[in-house]
Amino acid sequence: MNRVAVALLSAILLLGCSAASDEANTLSPEAAEGQATARSNGCAACHGADGQGGVGPAFVGLYLSDRELVDGSIVVADRDYLYESITQPAAKLVAGYRGRMPSNNLDDAQVESIMAWIEELAAP
Ligand code: HEC
Repeated sequence: MNRVAVALLSAILLLGCSAASDEANTLSPEAAEGQATARSNGCAACHGADGQGGVGPAFVGLYLSDRELVDGSIVVADRDYLYESITQPAAKLVAGYRGRMPSNNLDDAQVESIMAWIEELAAP
């Protein structure tokens, strides 16, 4: 890699980091903990370190939005739905995603904190 590329990459990395920490500063303590929990439990790999989505749906704008499921029905992404989606990933499948979400061993407190984070990402 040449020097320009290295400089560019470092600039992008630095920008990415400062953007991420800026955002964390605006989160409530519980939501920030939820974000950290999602990052340390593999959720971020598919849903993005900042909830921006990837292989899985984005968390940004998810809370209380309409979700279309594979059976064609529409559900509202309220707290019950989020809780079920996290604790029983196969219970309701969102349409349009080929990957399958793996199960996890989060306890209720961890699920609550991740839901707090998702709620705060509702209005970007
Ligand atoms: C291997 C990728 C992958 C990982 C890891 C993963 N998910 Fe998912 N997740 C998905 C996919 C794909 C969907 C959409 C299909 C479905 O409904 O299962 C999804 C759906 C969801 C939904 C419903 C989203 C919506 O748009 O309605 C929530 C909430 C969620 N995941 C939370 C989590 C949490 C919390 C973790 C970490 C414990 C996690 N996921 C880990 C891939 C992943």
